[in-house]
Amino acid sequence: MLMPVASQLPLRIARGGSLKQNTRPGIAPILKWAGGKSQLLDLLVPMVPKDYGTYIEPFVGGGALFFAVIPERAIIADSNPDLIAFYLAVRDDVDGVIAAVQRWKTDEKSFYRVRDLDPLKLSLAVRAARTLYLNRTCFNGLYRVNKSGTFNVPYGGYKNPRICDEAGLRAASRALATATILNEDYLTVLKRHAKAGDFVFLDPPYAPVGKFADFKRYTKEQFHRHDHETLAAEVRRLQALGCSVVLTNSDTPYTRKLYAGFDLATVKTRRSINCHGDKRQGEDLIVRIEPSQEVLLPDDLSPRVEDYPSTRFMGSKEKLLADIWAVASRLPGSRVLDLFSGSGAVSYMFKAQGKAVVSNDYMAFSSTLTRAMVENNSTRLSTSDVDFLTHGRATNRFVRDTFRGLYFSDADNLFIDLVRSRIAELNDEMKQSVARAALIRACMKKRARGIFTYVGVRYDDGRRDMQLSLRQHYKEAVQLINDSIFDNGQRHVALNLDVSQVEVDADIVYVDPPYYSPLSDNDYVRRYHFVEGLARDWGGVEIQGHTKTKKFKTYGSPFSTLEGAKRGFDDIFRRYANSAIIVSYSSNSLPNRETILRLLRKYKAHVEVVPVEHRYSFGNQGHKIGNANNKVSEYLFVAT
Ligand SMILES: C[S@@+](CC[C@H](N)C(=O)[O-])C[C@H]1O[C@@H](n2cnc3c(N)ncnc32)[C@H](O)[C@@H]1O
Repeated sequence: MLMPVASQLPLRIARGGSLKQNTRPGIAPILKWAGGKSQLLDLLVPMVPKDYGTYIEPFVGGGALFFAVIPERAIIADSNPDLIAFYLAVRDDVDGVIAAVQRWKTDEKSFYRVRDLDPLKLSLAVRAARTLYLNRTCFNGLYRVNKSGTFNVPYGGYKNPRICDEAGLRAASRALATATILNEDYLTVLKRHAKAGDFVFLDPPYAPVGKFADFKRYTKEQFHRHDHETLAAEVRRLQALGCSVVLTNSDTPYTRKLYAGFDLATVKTRRSINCHGDKRQGEDLIVRIEPSQEVLLPDDLSPRVEDYPSTRFMGSKEKLLADIWAVASRLPGSRVLDLFSGSGAVSYMFKAQGKAVVSNDYMAFSSTLTRAMVENNSTRLSTSDVDFLTHGRATNRFVRDTFRGLYFSDADNLFIDLVRSRIAELNDEMKQSVARAALIRACMKKRARGIFTYVGVRYDDGRRDMQLSLRQHYKEAVQLINDSIFDNGQRHVALNLDVSQVEVDADIVYVDPPYYSPLSDNDYVRRYHFVEGLARDWGGVEIQGHTKTKKFKTYGSPFSTLEGAKRGFDDIFRRYANSAIIVSYSSNSLPNRETILRLLRKYKAHVEVVPVEHRYSFGNQGHKIGNANNKVSEYLFVAT
């Protein structure tokens, strides 16, 4: 199921799931169920793919396959409300179910008394106990209701039926613990929940078999000819979506026609329920449907990834880390170069995944963040360091004097000046980076949208971040950054260079430059000039005194024009022709997809595009905040 990156079918990333091999040793079902699939398990279990996103079984019935597989992530559903109430109770209150069912005797009088209880007036546990009891004591374990929905199967008259298999119920409760259990129509379940990479098992009410078994006589099942046709169409939709599907039905010319073209197998089964208790053989059809697009399932991201104290940053890939990893984890080698590290979220993710990371950005503030949290394996600020940094007198009041009244209050500006002065007195360079990274984070957090293109408090919506003093923000930032620091056993480096000057060998190069669009500027320095100044202590830059924001001249980047971006890409692809290259780019930016593909193909033999749906957290690239159009497709180009 996990395919090599260079293959023929279009690639797609399954969202929202990890995968790992996700089954546990199976158990037997807990209810007898008409059409139960226990006899077919030898065939069905091997058809469940080794890796998949979510196991979805919307006609779960007795759940023979579900209990045989025990998937870690599952959605099971059925239109039968008593059945679903039963599974919910077994999952959430197995003790209650066991206690309730043990109270009832199994003689005929007791049977009818229990049968007469109105399930809707019972607690969930007692309702489930009733379902279990009736299932074990009624005729043939049938489930049948009359027109008004009342269970009406007669007494089975078994001597000593085993109703309460305590161990079995507890095992079932554990098996159900992580499952989502729904009482919904199968089509609703599939339309709402099925995603690329999922495994779907469909065991619908069978189409009628034999001379007299036309659909009209089968109204009891409420699954008519048109339902079978809708289901067959849904199976094709699931296939196109990227799901693997296994479906069972009766083997008839009609069902064969519905699923013509798929991989079909026929098996003989004994039908003991619904066939007058005789031993008649029936034939089941098993339909197997492979997804029509290959699906990359993201391997689990380490929980460490969550420890990165990211801030709002234009074009941050924080939400796409699982997608990037889905692609990168299939590439060989341990050395990763993140050429445009920005917020640092991607570099940190690679470190958390065990790689040796070189990060780079031409902004000093980005590089300060990655130095403190990626390159740094062990240096933290102690309580006394923080005391030292946040007490005393500022020896220099540059921020208060230069930015007075622009971004922060006088008190906050003086606090920034104090920490700046104290950082200069720390004698450990890495501690200086950590202290500066915390100051940068504190300043970005207290700015609505994290940017410095406007003055005053234009977007102050009263959020906590706006209310806290910079001193409080600073303390929180130190704590978060301290907590993010860890050693993965590798060495990492944070560079602060123009991309054209980076000369580092790497197995995987991640390329996420500013996205060019004629509709908006992508000038990072203009947006973040204040924290960039802070990172360099305004060394080597000249503040443009006439500007309202007191910014300094932006750094030139090839990615600020279309021609420049094409040249910039070409230059990177040529220089890293011997590495695997992953490029992030968006569908509404230029150069377009075809141009990037053409440029990659100049240097690389295998090039693929993986589309990823992504919604930007705030307007850029010409889109306004809240505009539904800011849903763009993000591409990951993979070149090997
Ligand atoms: C799209 S952002 C990267 C986002 C990053 N992957 C993240 O997840 O936060 C682009 C970055 O490219 C940097 N940049 C722009 N031009 C550059 C150049 N010529 N050399 C190096 N970095 C540059 C910007 O400073 C910005 O941080």
